[in-house]
Amino acid sequence: MKPKVFVTRMLPQKALDLILPVCDAEIWQEELPPPRDLLLSKVRDLDGLLSLLTDKIDATLMDAAPKLKVVSNCAVGFDNIDVPAATQRGIAVGNTPGVLTETTADFAFTLLMAAARRVVEGDRYTRAGKWKTWGLTVLLGQDIHGATLGLIGLGRIGAAMAKRAKGFDMRVMYYDPFRREDLEKELGITYSDLDTVVRQADFVSVHVPLTNETRKLVNQDLLSKMKQTAIIVNTSRGPVVDQAALYAALRDGVIAGAALDVTDPEPIALNDPLLTLENCIVAPHIASASVTTRTKMATMAAENLLAGLRGEKLPTPVNPEVKQRN
Ligand code: DGY
Repeated sequence: MKPKVFVTRMLPQKALDLILPVCDAEIWQEELPPPRDLLLSKVRDLDGLLSLLTDKIDATLMDAAPKLKVVSNCAVGFDNIDVPAATQRGIAVGNTPGVLTETTADFAFTLLMAAARRVVEGDRYTRAGKWKTWGLTVLLGQDIHGATLGLIGLGRIGAAMAKRAKGFDMRVMYYDPFRREDLEKELGITYSDLDTVVRQADFVSVHVPLTNETRKLVNQDLLSKMKQTAIIVNTSRGPVVDQAALYAALRDGVIAGAALDVTDPEPIALNDPLLTLENCIVAPHIASASVTTRTKMATMAAENLLAGLRGEKLPTPVNPEVKQRN
């Protein structure tokens, strides 16, 4: 009998081609994620689940899934999954590291540049009919070349961001709980404590996973240490930034701008005060959204799913220590 799997959103054909011949698979076809109650009822007889970052995979859900062997998340982040609970229950968890690094860094740098040079504001200005003439002081932004980039987090994506910044002749500083002297040499970047990084940076870019330690890491206190001309970019997870504190800092001129690909919650509420600010760009969590990368993420997630169903070690496991249930 083929293993029973549920895929919580439509995937690119390449990934479906891996799953469909060997699984009794149901693919959720809606744009919005499957409602919690439905997911809870579906998992009852599942062997495998392919989830997205919008699906909450917690202990309650796992307890409703006595046969579940593998949860394969189609994302590098896995803060939507209670991994210790999965490990305890013998459920393998997979994610999609590596394949989205460059695409995500491309977008983080795009946001940095768009905020620095007021691209989104400029577009709104044109469409509103405000472009009357070439003006010497119209929509003045900040130079990127020669500026200092402060990275919070030097994982794969942070390092890829540093490479881009070097191409723009930026000085790059970083803070990470794990110092990477190898990368400091390779990339020509410097390590400092968090306070020094944010005090000296013209641009601060956040590249940390969401954990108890990083929740609201960017708070009123940290924002108050940044330069008045600083711009913050967040492509990590929304809750890493205290959004109310960010709004106040942008409104009061404590910092100059922000560009966010992630918010808390997602989607951001249409009446969120951040959306009233000219100096804040909000993108709908699309940093990894290139055709090639999303296809790679989905095929990688499919490969993790299939390995887990076979009782094999996942190609990219989150909990490699798991003793998988039969
Ligand atoms: C991830 O993979 O965690 C990103 O947020 C979406 O690509």
